[in-house]
Amino acid sequence: MGLILGIESSCDETAAAVVENGYLVRSSVIASQIAKHAVHGGVVPELAAREHLKALNCVLSPALSEAGVTMKDIDAVAVTQGPGLIPALIVGLSFAKGLAAGWNKKFIGVNHFVGHIYSAFLGEEGRGVLENKNSYPLLALVVSGGHTSLLIIDGDGRVTNLGSTIDDAAGEALDKGAKLLGLGYPGGPVIQKTAENGDGKKYYFPRPLTGAAGKALSEENLFNFSFSGIKTALLYHVKKHENELSDAQFIADTAASYQEAVVDVLVKKTMLAAKKYNVKVIVCAGGVACNSLLRSELEKHTPEGIQLRLAERKNCTDNAAMIAGLGWHYFRKGMFSGFDIDAFARHPVMSQAPFL
Ligand code: KG4
Ligand code: ZN
Repeated sequence: MGLILGIESSCDETAAAVVENGYLVRSSVIASQIAKHAVHGGVVPELAAREHLKALNCVLSPALSEAGVTMKDIDAVAVTQGPGLIPALIVGLSFAKGLAAGWNKKFIGVNHFVGHIYSAFLGEEGRGVLENKNSYPLLALVVSGGHTSLLIIDGDGRVTNLGSTIDDAAGEALDKGAKLLGLGYPGGPVIQKTAENGDGKKYYFPRPLTGAAGKALSEENLFNFSFSGIKTALLYHVKKHENELSDAQFIADTAASYQEAVVDVLVKKTMLAAKKYNVKVIVCAGGVACNSLLRSELEKHTPEGIQLRLAERKNCTDNAAMIAGLGWHYFRKGMFSGFDIDAFARHPVMSQAPFL
């Protein structure tokens, strides 16, 4: 048996979790700092680091007690090494190193981006998908505040990076859009909520790099994303309608139309990739995968014969269960890290899925 303690501190969530044998989540505790950063309109790295310092012990104790274990039972400590905000990462990384060294446990640094992909496989059903050779090739759409990527994973673990954002990530576009509309932080959930009362067809926002509006799309950008143009279009839209900014219906229609544009791009590219590469399973994970419109549109457009696997909502935004689960795969292979590992801000290109 492998009981892994996961620690996550890459952005504005401090989290600890205990996962058994890679899939069974025994506990997953998350302390959010959102309220602290909301007043600044976004995440302040140094503030995040200080908050992690305060919160780590507070998430560790319940993570262990809810799992019904003590540090003695833990086989290894897995921690997010990157990508993320360096000051924030360093706090979790140092904490995890201290724990592992103090308790004489195996130590594993893992990639947060890969953790997001892995979050779609937590639980027994997820294990079934991952271990079934008929699930491959598998297409992963990772959509968060920091990432927007499409990847193909083959049964032997080989990874092909089809494309990613060339500027803003999808979550970042929602966060910045919400700020422009005066809706607060984080933008994704508040745009979704505001859009519930709006008409997504009321205004048209561009769908960059989709070949829409008669713009030729180069082969190179087929699966790349660009969200900065949508944000600029929103800025002009807000300027044009400055007299309507206090009109709740205008804001709701704008939020709904903006959300629809972002989701439309994500779904179009995902389906194009799914058909082109003849995939058997599509997985979607990361904070933006919480979005109800994205979830329902992916469901609507996934062709018959392809299985859609959406990460459970509670595992979409940053958490430590995905880190502990992914860490177990390193544990079972005997792949451990030294205490000299450093945090990294940007993720190296992944060519092999470590969970296969
Ligand atoms: O995965 P995550 O917690 O952190 C990163 O690794 O970036 O993702 C956070 C992102 C934020 O941009 C947030 O606005 C977005 O996920 N998000 C959502 C929703 N909930 C969170 N976006 C759209 N709809 C939601 N319901
Ligand atoms: Zn994340």
